[in-house]
Amino acid sequence: MTQEATARAHPNIAFIKYWGNQDEQLRIPVNSSLSMNLEGLYTETMVNWDHRLTQDSLIINSVEQSGDALKRVQTHLSALRNHIDGIEGHAKVISYNNFPMGVGIASSASSFAALTLAAVSASGQQLSESTLSSLARLGSGSASRSIPTGFVEWHKGVSHETSYAESIATPDFWDLVDVIAVVSNTHKKVGSTEGHQSANTSDLQLARIANAEKRLQDCKEALLHKDFHSFATVVEEDSNLMHSIMMTSRPPLFYWQPTSIELMHLIPEWRHEGLDVCYTLDAGPNVHCICNRIHAEEVSRRVRNISGVLDVKSAGAGRGAYLL
Ligand code: PMV
Repeated sequence: MTQEATARAHPNIAFIKYWGNQDEQLRIPVNSSLSMNLEGLYTETMVNWDHRLTQDSLIINSVEQSGDALKRVQTHLSALRNHIDGIEGHAKVISYNNFPMGVGIASSASSFAALTLAAVSASGQQLSESTLSSLARLGSGSASRSIPTGFVEWHKGVSHETSYAESIATPDFWDLVDVIAVVSNTHKKVGSTEGHQSANTSDLQLARIANAEKRLQDCKEALLHKDFHSFATVVEEDSNLMHSIMMTSRPPLFYWQPTSIELMHLIPEWRHEGLDVCYTLDAGPNVHCICNRIHAEEVSRRVRNISGVLDVKSAGAGRGAYLL
């Protein structure tokens, strides 16, 4: 017997970042985080459980995968087999991404959210959103935030069941746009899984964690009051703090490129000129310019004029993971 389902999920951009784990195996983070799903960018994944298969296989964008990508998906499917009753055999996974992977747009978030939802549904199970979010987290921490809709808070929790994400506002609550300045198209050398593991080697990590909850509350309040100025201040500070950890870890991680820094100088100036825009960067050099939709076109125009910017992508707030 074979069972099949297809799901779609969006990546998300964190306003308050996740960096470092309490439990590496279960990806239980040291701090809670806050994000927005990105509409328009997506991963679509079909999972077919087949009791005749002797191992899991993976195709991404029409290319049969082997090595690390396949191993990570197989590990996740094994975790799902352990957590869910009634899955028989192995899976054939066919996935499609409509945006570049491994360059600071969280493709692992949308990939593991879509994979989890499709794999669970194909097994015939119906699980709660928080359970799906916890399961997605096992594949990639930030994937937990791509399960619920719109603006999302991931409660760090203390165990597998208590570490999950939930929506704090629907996508239409605040008309924010992420104007993504693509500064590099090359695959990053050190991925976030490795980065999380070295976060505790930075002398600054304890200081970052100490105030993470306060920043999250400030960010959430600014978001729920649509107070762009307060929002911008805490979002930029939190991104700078995470990159300070990266740069002071052993070995150090430098994700910024000259164009990233150029934009980090310009964006606060644009804000002083009256544009509602702020920056945040993930584990890559691309700059996410978070702005009010009324200013998105102007921000996009200015970003395109910078010589080191290779491409610009724009995404509003998106929904959670869903079945097709
Ligand atoms: O889910 P991961 O392991 O790809 O980690 C994501 C880490 C950051 O993107 C840098 C921050 C975040 O909260 O999304």
